[in-house]
Amino acid sequence: MSFCIAIDGPAAAGKGTISKAVAAHFGFAHLDTGLLYRATGAKTFEGLTPIEAAQSLTAEDLKRDDLRSGDAGQAASRVAAVPEVRAALVDFQQAFARREGGAVLDGRDIGTVICPDAEVKLYVTASDEVRAKRRHKELVEKGEEITLEEVLADLRERDERDAARATAPLKPAEDATVIDTSDMSIDEAVAQVLALIGDRR
Ligand code: C5P
Repeated sequence: MSFCIAIDGPAAAGKGTISKAVAAHFGFAHLDTGLLYRATGAKTFEGLTPIEAAQSLTAEDLKRDDLRSGDAGQAASRVAAVPEVRAALVDFQQAFARREGGAVLDGRDIGTVICPDAEVKLYVTASDEVRAKRRHKELVEKGEEITLEEVLADLRERDERDAARATAPLKPAEDATVIDTSDMSIDEAVAQVLALIGDRR
């Protein structure tokens, strides 16, 4: 049995945490598709073109230590605007989405492009300020020296680029349920999502 849960939304809206909790709850596999773009972006630091980087992506590349850095996030959103980069990553994501036993994929275009027939589509969002605070806390805990203002500017720049690109832009699928987590704790957001999915299974 395959069952795909698509979770899209802007950076630091809570997609990752919600996806992990949902996958654990249902015993589904989870793919953070942002990692594919981060790893592709990181490979361009070593001189590969974005297309070469995407076409030669391996499981090892997804284990690099620097994928969560602000630089890797910016590089990811730049390579993610290249249509050939996106095309190189489609088959892997679609096979993952239709694996036996169920899958949760989170990203920007899962409900719109990768899995348009997903059984559940969510668009998780939050205000810019709340998202910046969450990401800032995460980065500081990892030892990055960065101000809240820098994080906010970085998120806005990335979201604008992601929403403005011609191929697979960031936007809710027409049939997605939008969840705004600005005024929710992560536990509340997870509970709301589990209740919603429970109704559809
Ligand atoms: O989700 P995360 O912040 O790790 O994603 C990094 C970047 O990868 C995003 O800013 C976006 O440009 C790109 N991305 C994408 N499509 C996805 C997932 C991520 O374009 N499905």
